[in-house]
Amino acid sequence: MCYKKSMVNSIIVYFSYHRGNTSKIAHVIGRELNSDIARTKDATLKNLKQYDLIGLGSGIYNGKPHKSILELVDKLDESFKDKYFFIFCTSRKNQDCYLDELEMKLKSKGVKYLGRFQTFGEYDRGIFKFFGGINRGRPNIEDFQNAALFARKLKEMVENEKLENS
Ligand SMILES: Cc1cc2nc3c(=O)[nH]c(=O)nc-3n(C[C@H](O)[C@H](O)[C@H](O)COP(=O)(O)O)c2cc1C
Repeated sequence: MCYKKSMVNSIIVYFSYHRGNTSKIAHVIGRELNSDIARTKDATLKNLKQYDLIGLGSGIYNGKPHKSILELVDKLDESFKDKYFFIFCTSRKNQDCYLDELEMKLKSKGVKYLGRFQTFGEYDRGIFKFFGGINRGRPNIEDFQNAALFARKLKEMVENEKLENS
């Protein structure tokens, strides 16, 4: 669950249940940022307040991130305004709009929003189960490399801003 701390104190909170696709991305980003990592069911606002940088990730289920992520954002209070946030997801179709609602909710809370990462994830429900699933092997090595690159950029952005303000 824990990785070594870096200059940026960060946590990733995620929901992943179908194939563990989002969990894989959460751990790649977490390794890059030396973040703590928690599932939504274990995350509390009190705990999140300890962190400067918070990543929220989910698989996409019926066009949206899981409600536990959306509900967590609904609960954020004023004390999160000085925190940095980013979001990520995996999905079958990787549509641009999937994270729009989550992004809008976060922005409406006035937090320091850094950006989003999304990629394909395996899916084997419905008709696809007869063909061994779709997007097999996703997220793959290239997806992991892209996720790691995204994480390095986040770290750079936060560290630069912290230095400027110090
Ligand atoms: C119940 C259910 C609904 C889903 N709905 C969508 C959807 O609307 N659009 C999409 O692109 N993928 C959809 N998917 C596919 C998942 O988003 C994809 O497999 C994702 O990587 C799952 O993440 P997880 O393994 O971390 O749970 C759905 C999957 C499940 C199980």
